[in-house]
Amino acid sequence: MGFAVAFCVLAITVPIFTLDNGLMRTPPMGWLAWERYRCDIDCQNDPKNCISEALFRDMADRLSEDGWRELGYVYINIDDCWASMDRDANGRLQADPKRFPSGIPHLAQYIHDRGLKLGIYGDMGTHTCGGYPGTTLDDITTDAQTFADWEVDMLKFDGCYSNAKEQEKGYPAMSKALNATGRPIAYSCSWPAYQGGLPPKVNYTQLGEICNLWRNYGDIQDSWSSVLTIADWFFNNQDILQPAAGPGRYSAVVFD
Ligand SMILES: *[C@@H]1O[C@H](CO)[C@@H](O)[C@H](O)[C@H]1NC(C)=O
Ligand SMILES: *[C@@H]1O[C@H](CO)[C@@H](O)[C@H](O)[C@H]1NC(C)=O
Repeated sequence: MGFAVAFCVLAITVPIFTLDNGLMRTPPMGWLAWERYRCDIDCQNDPKNCISEALFRDMADRLSEDGWRELGYVYINIDDCWASMDRDANGRLQADPKRFPSGIPHLAQYIHDRGLKLGIYGDMGTHTCGGYPGTTLDDITTDAQTFADWEVDMLKFDGCYSNAKEQEKGYPAMSKALNATGRPIAYSCSWPAYQGGLPPKVNYTQLGEICNLWRNYGDIQDSWSSVLTIADWFFNNQDILQPAAGPGRYSAVVFD
């Protein structure tokens, strides 16, 4: 199954401020589409594997009917390639109408009805990594509100097509904007992965204050050697990474 948070979970008791949204007090577990399904949008020829509402409903059925939910796997997370190439007339993101004909709010309802939570994907930048509309600094408030209106429970905020300066503004700004919606939305920041994953470029104290979860390292590929490469990186850097983690703030380890 998709993402699990494994290694860097032991909290040490130094006073570190944590993003105060009450979420992810224990390491989050669930399923994310990217590792297996990538940006397959060919629903005509590959209806079972394409990024569509049917895929996420299917996964919600699996987590809720096959015992995963009881083990704690409650997040169903959409990754890239869910959006329409165009924002709507009000400048809001919208789902691809062919692949998500019922819309994200309807999907959120389906997932909530099964005792699960819905995660969605955005990108701090002009475009997502897959070339879909990104969230520039000007769009942050609108997009946070859209996700809240849709009753989304988690946001993965990627970092393609932005520079270090924009990321330095955008990641904290999205944290504030999510808070301002009044809906508790877990916030997963890909920021460190775009800055090499380590201090001094990455400030883990700050990350713990603004994000619930963060990406340190590159994408997982569909192979055991990829898992091992990631495990090695965390092993080699554990003295830096471990103190940053604790209730409400974790490293996403085997996460896309
Ligand atoms: C917003 O932040 C305040 C102060 O940190 C916190 O008390 C509140 O629970 C947060 N609300 C949400 C929805 O995250
Ligand atoms: C890292 O972030 C913390 C909290 O925001 C801040 O107090 C500290 O000065 C930052 N450290 C560096 C080296 O910028």
